[in-house]
Amino acid sequence: MWLITGAGGQLGSILLRALSNGGEAVVGTVSPTGPRPQYGETVPLELADFERIRAFVRNRAPKYVIHTAAVTSVMAAYENPSLAREINVEATAALAEATAELDARFVFTSTDLVFDGNAAPYDESSTPNPTSIYGKTKIEAEELLANFTNAAVVRLPLMIGLPAVDRQTTFRNQLRALLDHQSLKLFQDEFRSPIALSDAARACIEIAKSDVSGVIHAGGPQSLSRLDIGLALARALGVATDQIVPTCQSDMHFPEPRPMDVSLDSSLFEKTFGRAAGRHVDDVMADVAIEINAGN
Ligand SMILES: NC(=O)c1ccc[n+]([C@@H]2O[C@H](COP(=O)([O-])OP(=O)(O)OC[C@H]3O[C@@H](n4cnc5c(N)ncnc54)[C@H](OP(=O)(O)O)[C@@H]3O)[C@@H](O)[C@H]2O)c1
Repeated sequence: MWLITGAGGQLGSILLRALSNGGEAVVGTVSPTGPRPQYGETVPLELADFERIRAFVRNRAPKYVIHTAAVTSVMAAYENPSLAREINVEATAALAEATAELDARFVFTSTDLVFDGNAAPYDESSTPNPTSIYGKTKIEAEELLANFTNAAVVRLPLMIGLPAVDRQTTFRNQLRALLDHQSLKLFQDEFRSPIALSDAARACIEIAKSDVSGVIHAGGPQSLSRLDIGLALARALGVATDQIVPTCQSDMHFPEPRPMDVSLDSSLFEKTFGRAAGRHVDDVMADVAIEINAGN
């Protein structure tokens, strides 16, 4: 049995769909106020309720837990740091403890935003230096998980593609803007190594089934600006690229410093699993275009 937290989210919904379509026994937890995917079994579970989390894990006795639920917005974490810490750190600890009691595998989804953006590409030996409350909560969770031999931490980059749930996402908003011929401003000076949601899900599942412990990066094969990513999407959709307006994040003000380049080196993943974690962005966007043309 698999347990996916955050099954109403982008990655969690894709994991729930992939595992239930693959015939696996899986249950997903969703936030009591968030959207609920149409796939598999879902149960509302508030992550701040640590006793309920522990009881739920004990009761379901999963063999694998993939923890994707989190306060994922950098701005939300900045505005409510105590909530971000409660959910991203303390709830993770409660889940990890309950999972360890069952001797089950635990995969924690962390982020490229644990790095400051000054020395990309980053591999697993690079020193984290988060510039945001969000990144700080993720590092604190990573550090506490170092004490759990059943746990692996997968650091993910920007994820692209459509979630398997009715949910507003930045990617979906950009897609809509392109299809509606609206102008779309994208940073040309902010770099990530984007991965498809489906590739990230596959990587999480493989890590869960393996005996990998500690930190592993699962990024895409390219370092791309947000502008590059948008242009690749426009090309795949066959829409005009001149509606995309290049802008610079260095010209804008953010309450916390925003890293310029947090591209990940994912060669450890490739060495461990014998394949790259993610596909080329043009292949990912071609799949998105097929999904759109199929009416999704
Ligand atoms: N998206 C990215 O590009 C990216 C990049 C690097 C790392 N990551 C990491 O990858 C993981 C998955 O990201 P994602 O983009 O799939 O996240 P997401 O779409 O924001 O989903 C997170 C889910 O967690 C739920 N949640 C938040 N607080 C909760 C609470 N108190 N109780 C119960 N559920 C709660 C959210 O509920 P609601 O439905 O109510 O919002 C949402 O369904 C996260 O750990 C994230 O930090 C994401």
